[in-house]
Amino acid sequence: MAHLILLAILRRSQISSIHKNGVSLASLHSTPAIQRDGLGDFALTDRVAIVTEGNRGLGLEAALAFSMAGSRAVYCLDLPEKPGEDWNAARQSIAKLGGAGRLEYVTTDVRDQKRLLKTVEEIATKEGRMDVCVTAAGISGAARPCLEYTEEDLEEVYAVNLKGVFFAAQAAAKQMDRFQIPGSIILLASIAGSVALKHTPVLPYNTSKAAVIQMARVMACELAQKNIRVNSLSPGFIETPMTTAIISARPEFQAIWSEQSFMNRLGKPRELRGIMTWLASDASSFCTGSNIVVDGGYTAW
Ligand SMILES: NC(=O)c1ccc[n+]([C@@H]2O[C@H](COP(=O)([O-])OP(=O)(O)OC[C@H]3O[C@@H](n4cnc5c(N)ncnc54)[C@H](O)[C@@H]3O)[C@@H](O)[C@H]2O)c1
Repeated sequence: MAHLILLAILRRSQISSIHKNGVSLASLHSTPAIQRDGLGDFALTDRVAIVTEGNRGLGLEAALAFSMAGSRAVYCLDLPEKPGEDWNAARQSIAKLGGAGRLEYVTTDVRDQKRLLKTVEEIATKEGRMDVCVTAAGISGAARPCLEYTEEDLEEVYAVNLKGVFFAAQAAAKQMDRFQIPGSIILLASIAGSVALKHTPVLPYNTSKAAVIQMARVMACELAQKNIRVNSLSPGFIETPMTTAIISARPEFQAIWSEQSFMNRLGKPRELRGIMTWLASDASSFCTGSNIVVDGGYTAW
């Protein structure tokens, strides 16, 4: 008899848990944005993002990717007084998409914590939300043997790559928290944060990127209770103004960087669009505190 009662209880709890899952699945499938744009959980419909280094390179690529995925506004924060040709071209392409998405530009120095906090607060107040933050502003610093680096060399790189990354992530997280948004923060690290780069002695850069990977883990742990996710993205060598300037001055680096990758080439900025959109969107809702490597196999051996 006890056996039969237990069986009945088990059956009832199974039925209710199936019913519960069924209901939540049904409501997911009926989300209007998913039906409308076909991007499913990858859609960034109506989301607001800030991207440091949004004037060019990988930051601008993130801004483009988010706009294509339906963002309402992407604010590109960068040093120059006015945005450059690449940014203007990107803005025109987004306008041609015909959606409501906007690309905005704000002159910003990520080393200035107070100003950054104010800028990001003003953006969030204007838009009434803050969903995504990409911290891409970064400098490589001088390449030289580790025995020759000075304190100034280290401070220059750490001010942007370490403190600037933290200040931007912190400013965005404060606004996500203020508006109770389940936000996503993507810290641009590098494979240089996990491995030394063959024939490329850049100790301050390497150590700053290792710190960024750890920063993502620590922030992710603390901010999970606020429903804010933090991950780091570690690309291998990608063709951006940063790397093409080095290759123009020292053409041998094209081969040095390519031959370390299984694909025997550098990556294109657009090859990071998918991963950046995934990390920014609900499609990665169970991913936090991770370091995602996209490097054409560079670190696979
Ligand atoms: N290109 C690569 O191969 C590669 C690989 C791995 C990681 N990364 C990382 O990705 C990020 C973007 O790299 P990229 O190659 O596009 O760089 P890039 O050199 O093309 O651009 C750097 C940008 O950072 C901005 N910047 C510099 N100091 C700033 C400051 N104080 N405040 C605001 N903006 C500032 C510059 O104005 C510029 O727009 C960097 O963090 C870099 O370390 C790049």
